[in-house]
Amino acid sequence: MYKASAYSAASATSPLAGTTIARRDPAEHDVQIEILFCGICHSDLHAVRNEWSSVMPTVYPIVPGHEIVGRVTRVGSAVTNFTPGDLAAVGCMVDSDRTCPECQAGLEQFCPNMTLTYNSEDRHIGGVTYGGYSDSVVVDERFVLHVPSNLDLAGTAPLLCAGITTYSPMRHWCVTRGKKVGVVGLGGLGHMGVKFAHALEAHVVVFTTSPNKKEDALRLGADEVVISRNAGEMQKHAGSFDFILDAVAADHDINAYIDLLGRDGNITLVGAPEKPLAVAAFGLIFNRRSLSSSPIGGIPETQEMLDFCGRHNITADVEVIPIQKVNEAYERLLKADVKYRFSIDMASLKSE
Ligand SMILES: NC(=O)c1ccc[n+]([C@@H]2O[C@H](COP(=O)([O-])OP(=O)(O)OC[C@H]3O[C@@H](n4cnc5c(N)ncnc54)[C@H](OP(=O)(O)O)[C@@H]3O)[C@@H](O)[C@H]2O)c1
Ligand SMILES: [Zn+2]
Ligand SMILES: [Zn+2]
Repeated sequence: MYKASAYSAASATSPLAGTTIARRDPAEHDVQIEILFCGICHSDLHAVRNEWSSVMPTVYPIVPGHEIVGRVTRVGSAVTNFTPGDLAAVGCMVDSDRTCPECQAGLEQFCPNMTLTYNSEDRHIGGVTYGGYSDSVVVDERFVLHVPSNLDLAGTAPLLCAGITTYSPMRHWCVTRGKKVGVVGLGGLGHMGVKFAHALEAHVVVFTTSPNKKEDALRLGADEVVISRNAGEMQKHAGSFDFILDAVAADHDINAYIDLLGRDGNITLVGAPEKPLAVAAFGLIFNRRSLSSSPIGGIPETQEMLDFCGRHNITADVEVIPIQKVNEAYERLLKADVKYRFSIDMASLKSE
């Protein structure tokens, strides 16, 4: 074991602060990574504040962070895919049983024995896993991704959660040229959804509660922008969408979006608000519409997404911050004031 620097929260009401944590020394199949950038996902905030207590109660102290990019510093004797000096990335999962049907299918996100990057049982050293708000991490090579060499690293980190979480359902629901696709909520996930839907050549409509994001939405690849609090603007799109991705982090009226779907249209919920959403059955019944959801994506699809980003030169639009600004960044997330992902420059941890 060795000591790593990190930022952790001691309780649901404590700010994040500098600390030291134990990491395992790399075993045979492990890769040790010096973390260069870690994105701030709204899920980090939900977890730190224990907002998902009924489903995934938070164990304190928590070290969040599951949008990790860095450089390999050491590898175990059996590692074949990475050598020291390589770029490497880690997302929301660090392990699974690798034997169940889901793992065999490369859908580790559905494995009943999957280990999340933070706040999961740590099967190596006990306690819970600690995430990427840290200077290093040790992960089995099967859960470490390769980073295309042409991509900016600060903007690549968010691909590991915001990227795959929006890419995966768009592939599953066959977003292609000619489809009319809506993206609700222009935050970290939403802005990646816009970039992917545009790259997949769909007609993209952004729904935002923030009128000041309109120009950005068009620049990011939207063909149209709707201010969702304007009922008249919403009504113009009634019954017309093939697919809508809902990436809102807070309570909102999902029925207003269900009504915009055409026959057999689908709305996929990737946002995970603290409180349950109310769904009107008739909105779904009338046009045989469906409501579904989607968690992150498997390891093979995450690599596919990174390679897609390499080919299309896609990264997140980031505001790079030092770790010392993380608590301020959380407050800004709550005000939907992020353009469009915070990416922590982990070099700042050295000055702690
Ligand atoms: N399914 C998964 O696997 C998965 C993975 C990662 C994250 N998530 C979840 O996805 C959600 C979004 O995460 P994120 O990191 O993208 O968050 P984020 O950057 O904070 O973006 C959320 C966006 O939602 C909109 N919004 C916020 N409050 C709203 C309100 N009261 N009413 C309507 N719209 C509101 C805002 O967009 P506008 O300003 O444009 O309205 C905001 O920018 C979170 O709940 C997160 O936990 C799920
Ligand atoms: Zn996330
Ligand atoms: Zn499994």
